Amino acid sequence: MLSYENKIILAPMVRIGTLPMRLLALRYGADIVYTEELIDWKFLRSKRRYNDILDTVDYVDQTDGTIIFRTCTEEKEKVVLQLGTCDAERAVKVAKLVENDVAAIDINMGCPKEFSIKGGMGVALMAQPDKAYNILKTLVDNLSIPVTCKIRILDTPDETLTVVQKLITSGIKAIGIHGRTRNERPQHPVHTDIIQYVSDRVSIPVIANGGSKEIETHSDIYKFKKLTGCTSVMIARAAEWNCSIFREEGLLPMDTVIREYLKLAVDYDNSPSNTKYCIQNILRDLQETPRGRQFLECQTLEQICSIWDLDEYCQQKQSQHQKLGIQGRWQVCP
Ligand code: FNR
Repeated sequence: MLSYENKIILAPMVRIGTLPMRLLALRYGADIVYTEELIDWKFLRSKRRYNDILDTVDYVDQTDGTIIFRTCTEEKEKVVLQLGTCDAERAVKVAKLVENDVAAIDINMGCPKEFSIKGGMGVALMAQPDKAYNILKTLVDNLSIPVTCKIRILDTPDETLTVVQKLITSGIKAIGIHGRTRNERPQHPVHTDIIQYVSDRVSIPVIANGGSKEIETHSDIYKFKKLTGCTSVMIARAAEWNCSIFREEGLLPMDTVIREYLKLAVDYDNSPSNTKYCIQNILRDLQETPRGRQFLECQTLEQICSIWDLDEYCQQKQSQHQKLGIQGRWQVCP
């Protein structure tokens, strides 16, 4: 059973938290990795397939064949699937589908985007604690794996504590707290004091989040942990920019991280568009350099790989995959 004590965690990030980045984070030293937020009703359109070429489990969208969620044995004990939901019944349906493929389920109660709020998901649930509690309780009652949620703080320490205490009575095993309110943006300072106030007063592990602006080296993770008084820390942007932030031995150069990420993207046949998006977020301003512009024109994994001298690696892997017949070889799982 997954423990949430004393852990350093890759935070959920839409489009960033796909399989190659999660594996890279684990290999660099992350203890737990969250998936990107997956929306319950979209997930319910998928079918589970065992992909015997990649040795992965794929949840494939039945309407367009895209991979909604791909996972593998290497992460099985450490991957937390984050769901976007506003409905206990739908959430349980998804959770039961993936129960044997992931280590835990997390509910997103922090997303402030219009899409989430309009759908009654994400941070909208913080304004409806009864509904949020009901979703968590239904999951806890029906699952054999841990259930958690990730929230944003409310305006005051006490308001935040009151909601957290209610959510905890559902039986969740931990709670992630992003120390910003619904209306605050990433550039605003993070309220470490409110995270600490809550963490000091509750009985389950609190996972502190929101410190990336101040997390430039691995040791900064421990400073943030100390500042928030939490047992565990969850990192989003600092990992998006340089995933080797999880390495105790120190940061690796950007090009090394890109190469290691790219190899995993090739190994796991990640889509070129998702691979490109993740690399764009590592390169950031460097997209404006001649090499960055060359990269932006790439459309295939092979083209991207050639910029980092991995063309041979990519060709070899892709031809191996093709020989095995990567397309159309999914088997229906029992
Ligand atoms: C996020 N965040 C986020 N949160 C969440 O609960 N589910 C999600 O799918 C996402 N997606 C996402 C994508 C990207 C690109 C970013 C940068 C952020 C929020 C994230 O998990 C975290 O709460 C904040 O970024 C604050 O933490 P950091 O960045 O200071 O470590």
